[in-house]
Amino acid sequence: MLDYTGTDIDFSLKDKVAIITGGAAGIGYATVEFFTRKGAVCVLADINEKTDQIAREISANNMGITGDLTDSKFMGRIVEQADKAFGHIDFLINSAGIVALDSAENISDEYWDKTIQTNLTASFKMARTIGKYMIEKGIGGSIVNIGSQAGVIALDRHVAYCAAKGGIIAMTKVLALEWGKYGIRVNAVSPTVVLTELGHKAWDGPVGDLFKKEIPAERFAEPDEIAAAIAFLCSKNAGMITGHNLMIDGGYTIK
Ligand SMILES: NC(=O)c1ccc[n+]([C@@H]2O[C@H](COP(=O)([O-])OP(=O)(O)OC[C@H]3O[C@@H](n4cnc5c(N)ncnc54)[C@H](O)[C@@H]3O)[C@@H](O)[C@H]2O)c1
Repeated sequence: MLDYTGTDIDFSLKDKVAIITGGAAGIGYATVEFFTRKGAVCVLADINEKTDQIAREISANNMGITGDLTDSKFMGRIVEQADKAFGHIDFLINSAGIVALDSAENISDEYWDKTIQTNLTASFKMARTIGKYMIEKGIGGSIVNIGSQAGVIALDRHVAYCAAKGGIIAMTKVLALEWGKYGIRVNAVSPTVVLTELGHKAWDGPVGDLFKKEIPAERFAEPDEIAAAIAFLCSKNAGMITGHNLMIDGGYTIK
């Protein structure tokens, strides 16, 4: 029997430590649940005041840190506390994000700046902080950024969101290029509409109903379908996958 790739048929994340931004809700929360069930320890970083409680309700081994990711001082605190508690960090999942919609001619500076800062700049700074930590420790690791279908196609009233997500996909490729030699893999997942608070905010109503009919799968995604792909990308089985943007869109962007 062939056994030369070091792959893992059980897909285990046992004893790995994952930092999951936006872990208190939506895709981040589903990822915390999935990773915990796969044996990982999760450190949630979220603006939600109850982040630590949410983390520990999923597993007593997890922990949560409350803070605003648009404040770069928060990032140092996350690494410090995770390293102190567990001694290593193996994965970063950048899932914190917001949506603020308006037409391109009317979008306010506030909407534009907040969307770019939260969805793109904070993800980059978080990746830079964790990447540096992994390089210094010489331990390698895996980073997964949450892109979106909005990063590869145009969506009405999504100008700032599309710009941020296009940036996420480009940034993912550069980080993968620069950090491959350190054993750090960097990938993105790009979902269609996912049934979370953010997904409902942007897509509930007749526009969303029409959009759904355009998806070959004729439905929106569930958060755990995104979590499962993220877990695969962090597993040994994805050892040769880096710089990739995995579309999770029921086939929407093949047209
Ligand atoms: N839901 C969708 O339809 C969809 C589709 C494609 C991509 N995405 C992306 O997936 C990611 C997660 O989205 P979701 O649907 O789970 O959203 P969500 O609103 O359900 O959860 C987002 C989480 O991020 C946290 N957060 C927001 N701003 C923060 C900040 N400044 N600092 C710390 N935490 C902050 C929130 O408190 C929340 O817990 C986002 O990047 C989003 O753009 C979502």
